[in-house]
Amino acid sequence: MSSKKPIGFLDSGIGGVSVISQAIKLLPNEDYFFFSDSVNNPYGDKSDGNIISRCDFIADFLINKKNCKAVVIACNTASAKAVGFLREKYTSIPFIAIEPAYKMVHDFNPDGFTLVMATKGTLESEKFHRLYTSYDNHNTELLACVGLADLIEQNDIDGLKDYLNRTLGKYSGKTDNVVLGCTHYPLAKKEIGDVLGDVRFFDGAVGVSHQLKNVLAERDLLNNQKERGKIEFLDSSPTDELKKIKEKRFFNILHQEEKQ
Ligand code: DGL
Repeated sequence: MSSKKPIGFLDSGIGGVSVISQAIKLLPNEDYFFFSDSVNNPYGDKSDGNIISRCDFIADFLINKKNCKAVVIACNTASAKAVGFLREKYTSIPFIAIEPAYKMVHDFNPDGFTLVMATKGTLESEKFHRLYTSYDNHNTELLACVGLADLIEQNDIDGLKDYLNRTLGKYSGKTDNVVLGCTHYPLAKKEIGDVLGDVRFFDGAVGVSHQLKNVLAERDLLNNQKERGKIEFLDSSPTDELKKIKEKRFFNILHQEEKQ
């Protein structure tokens, strides 16, 4: 048995492109539908109720309108706040939820000074608290990067560089590991590296893609078509012009990723 239905992805904007790009590398024959909720970006400082109701709306759309066979929550903040609710409400399909790759630090470089960059919402969540206390290397600083995802979403390069210099300057030269705990941050990896120097980056995109593959395989839901799958993108911006800008940037990043 197999399934030709698409896999749904959601994020508070285009940041989740850093996740879907890895999923496509691993599962190139699947069809994908990416929902970018950029009109509500950022999720990072919204209330739990607000995030749950947006994720509920998007999940309903992906499952009932787009007929998705699985949903990947390509947003650490939405995973932290809404995955419990979504799994309880939509029991017929699996939800695969990204989380900050702090366990990878424990597995690959546990002794180094570690900076976990994430949204305030993620760092304050119960889910992250459990992860952190399970793998605490006692040499970690948690940095709530308020406003960083917005700068990346807006593609404001000058604002981004200024922000990173102001907030990361003091960690320069003394940091070994950086957990990119928001799916927008890998899009600014170069700029973050420029400030911090020689660091090792960790993010959850590859791990979550393997998890997706395993879950689909266990349920006999992999698509066994021979040709490459198609990728659809929808952004919640209020005008067609803004939607087009997001779509263009999303596919540009995806094509750059493909070449790497
Ligand atoms: N990309 C998101 C995350 O991984 C959310 C960023 C935001 O909207 O604040 O947390």
